[in-house]
Amino acid sequence: MQIVGHTTQQVVYAASRRRPFRINELLLIEDRIHSNSNPLGEVVETQSFNRYIPLATEHSDLVDRQVMENLAQLGYDIGADTIHLARIRILAELASPVSVGIAVRVPTFAEIRDFLIPRDPATGLVLGVIRGTEELTVGLPAQLSRVALLYQKDSGIMPQKGIPYIMDHWTWPEYPHIGIFGGSGSGKSFALRVLLEELMRQQLPGLILDPHFELSFTEPFPDLPASYREDFTRRSIVLMAGRDVGILFEELNAADLINLLQAAGEVTENMNNAIQTLHRRRDSFVSFSTRIRDLTRGLEEEQDLKRKLREDDGDGFREKQEIRRILGLVEKYKDRVGHVSTLRAISRRLNRLQTERIFTGGIEPIREAIMNRRLVVVQGPIWFLQVLGAYVIRKFYRERRQYQDAEQTGGEAPKFPPFIVATDEAHNFAPRSPEIPAPARSILRTIAQEGRKYGVFLILATQRPALLEDTITAQLNTKLIFRTIRSSDLEVIREETDLGPEEVRRLPYLGSGNAFVSSAAVGRTIAVRIRVAKTVSPHSRHPFLELKEDFIPPEEELGEALLTYLPLGDFNFDVHLGTLQQELKRRITIEEITCCLEDLVGEGIVEKKEMVLGVEYRRRED
Ligand SMILES: Nc1ncnc2c1ncn2[C@@H]1O[C@H](COP(=O)(O)OP(=O)(O)OP(=O)(O)O)[C@@H](O)[C@H]1O
Ligand SMILES: [Mg+2]
Repeated sequence: MQIVGHTTQQVVYAASRRRPFRINELLLIEDRIHSNSNPLGEVVETQSFNRYIPLATEHSDLVDRQVMENLAQLGYDIGADTIHLARIRILAELASPVSVGIAVRVPTFAEIRDFLIPRDPATGLVLGVIRGTEELTVGLPAQLSRVALLYQKDSGIMPQKGIPYIMDHWTWPEYPHIGIFGGSGSGKSFALRVLLEELMRQQLPGLILDPHFELSFTEPFPDLPASYREDFTRRSIVLMAGRDVGILFEELNAADLINLLQAAGEVTENMNNAIQTLHRRRDSFVSFSTRIRDLTRGLEEEQDLKRKLREDDGDGFREKQEIRRILGLVEKYKDRVGHVSTLRAISRRLNRLQTERIFTGGIEPIREAIMNRRLVVVQGPIWFLQVLGAYVIRKFYRERRQYQDAEQTGGEAPKFPPFIVATDEAHNFAPRSPEIPAPARSILRTIAQEGRKYGVFLILATQRPALLEDTITAQLNTKLIFRTIRSSDLEVIREETDLGPEEVRRLPYLGSGNAFVSSAAVGRTIAVRIRVAKTVSPHSRHPFLELKEDFIPPEEELGEALLTYLPLGDFNFDVHLGTLQQELKRRITIEEITCCLEDLVGEGIVEKKEMVLGVEYRRRED
């Protein structure tokens, strides 16, 4: 293999008569000029030619005239020889271009170890294997050779082939935040799971918002070798929004409340003022909403109420007292809360949040998990997660900042650890379009911009990078790019990553689980195949298998059950009705039983006989 031409200092061409090139493989260029360290290159495009596939410039955008001439000079018989060609991107800064004719070879593992392995697997995040390094697997030391098993849908678990791709999370303070982009079914959720497993291995605490109810880590991936299994049950906890966790109304201040209400509809300047005026410290949902309700009534019925108070109709002392209280509120707030419609709008938003069970439970279980350096997965409908997530993230971020600032200035603040926030469907939590209300957008933007100073990092997965808030996208220093087809998303990827044109061209065709990792910390793009996950989502069964196992048609189920009760007479159905209902966990009528048995008679499985007391059904004996 040798160099046959170049376009720039970074891009060269290599040719070989015997060995086809592989995409993404790393090759060492034995360049005497740069001899103190032979530069490495990565194959970004390959093609093979022979006399049936003529090598002519009009047939290939890989070669130009210059390359053709060089090939001839180097003794290649264009038109007769088989020629394998590659476009190679040099992975180092060169002072001068590489010369034509220089030899190119596959490096040994020792020659590229430092370049490809930033950390050992015990202290870094092992996410998969580096594509194009398959040939180097044999030279791998034991501690690197079984850390990233692979998975293929049809073949199952496969041995690790290639050098492990280890992400160095110790660089995050300098290069924070991760984006996981890719179309449907491209492998984002799978990769997110692998990444989260690695966070747990390193005991990095994290808050995960899981709108798909798919991120629990208790079920092992099927057929995993025992040596590769890992138990994450004590490292993670799943909490259900609205059942296990929610927001304690009593803990909200007026500003928090305004933020929350924005999730239920626009909060106008008037509403803002009204809430600031009416909310009191430690208000409960009931005390606050009652105050608003009473005040609304007072404003609407002021004259009426005053008249009632004046009338000496002997009505109850209690009612008068109540009227006085309401009028007292009117007196106090009348000039400060604006119109009744403002109050009504506040009530509507409050009620929506209440009906959605936002105010059920508190966030203590989340805090406890973070303090214990666990991964806490909060599951719930996306809208709920947006509201709860915005509140919790804002609160924790504030506490983390206060703690760190206090540490530095010698002040006092309760301890709060660095943590990670991760979510799928990130474009819903932080949409680009300012018209779409999104309670979590501003806090996510703040963390994207300054979270690294406080050890707070984001992992955001989305199908639609084009719809993700652009300041945030720009701050994601590492991006895992999976198969992408939409042109608007490709456009963002082109702008926001260092993927070369060849890679962008390959994006629509990437197989599931393959990604390009564009990382500012590494300074180049790495083609990676994500390893097999050690756990699976509890509902990752094939939907048709689920149908077969969990959705036996009630009629069939009844038929199967009835067969075990035979012989049965229509005179004694009721004797068995109780046990049958218990067995099938539903109500069953006598008519249903008769119908079902008649069907079985029709199918020839059951026969019926006239008896003295009535009809008897028995299994047909063939
Ligand atoms: N690293 C991998 N190795 C092997 N197979 C994978 C890998 N990643 C994904 N797959 C296969 O692709 C399927 C889809 O992956 P995944 O659920 O992660 O897609 P997704 O990008 O999250 O899609 P969606 O956006 O629709 O949620 C998986 O069920 C699995 O069969
Ligand atoms: Mg997914």
